[in-house]
Amino acid sequence: MVLDPKITEDGSYTFFSDEFQEHYHSFAGAKREAEEKFLIPCRIATQARTKSTLRLLDICYGLGHNTAAALTKIWQVNPACRVEVIALERDPAIAPTAFKNNLLSPWSSEVAVLLGELSHRFEVQTEKLAAQLLIGDARQTIQLAIAQNFQADAIFLDPFSPPKCPQLWTVEFLKLVAQCLDKQSYLATYSCAAAIRQAMTLANLKFGGTPGVGRRSPGTLARFTTEHLEPLSQQEIEHLKTRAAIPYRDPDLKGDRQTILERRILEQQQTTLESTSQWKKRWLKK
Ligand SMILES: C[S@@+](CC[C@H](N)C(=O)[O-])C[C@H]1O[C@@H](n2cnc3c(N)ncnc32)[C@H](O)[C@@H]1O
Repeated sequence: MVLDPKITEDGSYTFFSDEFQEHYHSFAGAKREAEEKFLIPCRIATQARTKSTLRLLDICYGLGHNTAAALTKIWQVNPACRVEVIALERDPAIAPTAFKNNLLSPWSSEVAVLLGELSHRFEVQTEKLAAQLLIGDARQTIQLAIAQNFQADAIFLDPFSPPKCPQLWTVEFLKLVAQCLDKQSYLATYSCAAAIRQAMTLANLKFGGTPGVGRRSPGTLARFTTEHLEPLSQQEIEHLKTRAAIPYRDPDLKGDRQTILERRILEQQQTTLESTSQWKKRWLKK
């Protein structure tokens, strides 16, 4: 598989996945997405100011933009902060290819060098950074993070979109993710899909919206308490009562895309919930 760097509107680079038929980032910009969808909602700068150690869980590490953005910001704000990172990624070729093509150049050169090492050795240990890149299906590798009792201050949840990669948006997977989230911490994702928000509720998380980046719709910030969460609009609340909110399920955490999609369609056909098109029509009239 050839990975050609593609430039985005803010000058940072992404890739296109032939397998998932999706870009790794929105065209608004890989850099902007890392900062606006993940760092700012997770209050990385504020957390770095007040903590001597920060723990990050980067789910779907890809090129490494989200971790690179976080490390750059943390050490700008608090150069002595120790950071522990667990990054989950299935494809071992993405990060080294990004590094080889100098695609982490939007971030500090110190960070780019450290993450270059991470992409090749899968582990980095320095005085300020303890990072592991766990290669494999995140549904399995997250169990290694749980076994280490890893309690993240911030979780970046960045899979391909739910219809393309439902495996990483299921109730069962989000329940595992929630086990890695510390009591006062933040989980950010770019998706505002009702099915994902409903899965978060079933994983005992509260959530609020985050601003959209470029033309993209809002994202979601989740945590165990409602503090610092934007209240949902009435329209969003009602969206959660429609068929779109039927979540993806993967009881044995081994299902393939097709099986998970079909299971959800079946559940949607059997529900008495309002159709999402009716909900849309009601809100168009208002
Ligand atoms: C949208 S991209 C992530 C972009 C990344 N956060 C970045 O900043 O470059 C999604 C990533 O999920 C990875 N992926 C797909 N299925 C996966 C799975 N089951 N487990 C772990 N990673 C997976 C893909 O290889 C891809 O790198």
